[in-house]
Amino acid sequence: MKAMITLLPGDGIGPEVVDAAQAMLEAVAERFGHTFKMEAHPIGGAAIDLTGNPLPEETLNACREADAVILGAVGGPKWDDPTAAVRPEQGLLGLRKGLGLFANLRPVQPHPTLLNASPLRPERLENVNLLVVRELTGGIYFGEPRFRRTVNGEEQAVDTMAYTESEVRRVARLAFQLAGKRQGKVTSVDKANVLESSRLWRQTVTQVAEEYPDIALEHLLVDAAAMHLLTRPGTFDVMVTANLFGDILTDEASVLTGSMGNLPSASLGEGTNRFGKPRGLYEPIHGSAPDIAGKGIANPIGTILSTAMMLRHSLGLDDEATAVEAAVDAVLNAGHRTADIARPGESPLNTREMTEKLIERLS
Ligand code: IPM
Ligand code: MN
Repeated sequence: MKAMITLLPGDGIGPEVVDAAQAMLEAVAERFGHTFKMEAHPIGGAAIDLTGNPLPEETLNACREADAVILGAVGGPKWDDPTAAVRPEQGLLGLRKGLGLFANLRPVQPHPTLLNASPLRPERLENVNLLVVRELTGGIYFGEPRFRRTVNGEEQAVDTMAYTESEVRRVARLAFQLAGKRQGKVTSVDKANVLESSRLWRQTVTQVAEEYPDIALEHLLVDAAAMHLLTRPGTFDVMVTANLFGDILTDEASVLTGSMGNLPSASLGEGTNRFGKPRGLYEPIHGSAPDIAGKGIANPIGTILSTAMMLRHSLGLDDEATAVEAAVDAVLNAGHRTADIARPGESPLNTREMTEKLIERLS
C-alpha cells in the first residue's frame, strides 16, 4: 500500500512524540512492504510563530489531501496570554471542524503490568476496558454566541452550549455500533438535571437506542459519572458524551492506565480517504506538557498506539495495527518504562530509547 500521512507535530512534547510515531511507521512500512509518504506541517503555537495563524491554509489542505493525520499536541505558556487574539488551541479546533471529525474515540484499558502505576487500588482496575466516544465538533467548544461585554461596569464573558438533534444522533449511532462489537453496553453521560442541551441529548440518545435493541443503555449525570469512573470503572463499556464532558472525563479516565501518556485517540467523521476509509486524525490525549518539553523524556506510547488506530481505521491494515499494539504489550511486559510510569527505583528510558525498544519488538 502507498499512503499519504500528514504529520502535525505542534508544540511542547508534540514534536518528540510525533518523531517516535514516524519512526514506528517507517519500521511498519519496511517490515510489511508499504510506502508511507509522511510530511510535517505547522499547527498551533509553532504555526502562530511562523505565520501568525494557528491553522495555516496550507496545513489544512495537506490534511484534506492526506489519507490520515497524526498530531502531537498544541499549546504552551508562550501563547497562554488570556487576552491574545490568536491561540494555539484554535488550530486544533479548526482542524477538527474543518475535517468534520465529530467523534473522538478514546479507549482506556490499563496494561496488566501497570496496575501499580495508577493511584487506584489494583482490584478496582480489574476488567477495565472502556471506550469513551466524545462528541468533538459541537457543544460549548463551538456554540454561538460567544463574546465579552461590559455589564454594570464589569466585564462579562459568555459561551454557549448548543446541540442539535442530528449532532447528537450521529455520535450516538456510532457509540451504539461500536458497543455492538464490544460488550453491548452504552453509558450516555449528560447534565440533564440542569442543562437544556443535555435534556435534548438524553432524549435523542434514548430514541437512537430503539434502533439498537440488543445494546443496553444507561444514563448518568456527569458529576456521578466522574465518581463512578473511580468506584466502578470495570462496569463501563462505551461511554458517549458531549465535547466538554468528554474532555474532562477522559483526562480522569487516563489515570486508570497509570499515565495520560499511554492514551491514544482517533477522531473520525464525515470525510473518507482514497481507500474509502475515514480520513481520521490520530493523536495522544495528553497535551504539550511544557514542563518536560525539550527534555526528550516524554512517553511515546500514546502516540504510537494512535498510529495503530490509524493503521486500523484509516488504512485498513489490521495486522500491522495489531503488530504495533503487540510491540507495546511486549515492551511493557519486559518492564521498560518511561519516567511517567516508572516506579521508584526503576530507571526510566527516554523517548528515543523507548521508541527503539518498541521498534525492536515489532514483528
Ligand atoms: C484534548 C485537548 C484539547 C481539547 C485542547 C488542546 C483544545 O485538551 O484534545 O483533549 O480541549 O479538546
Ligand atoms: Mn483534553
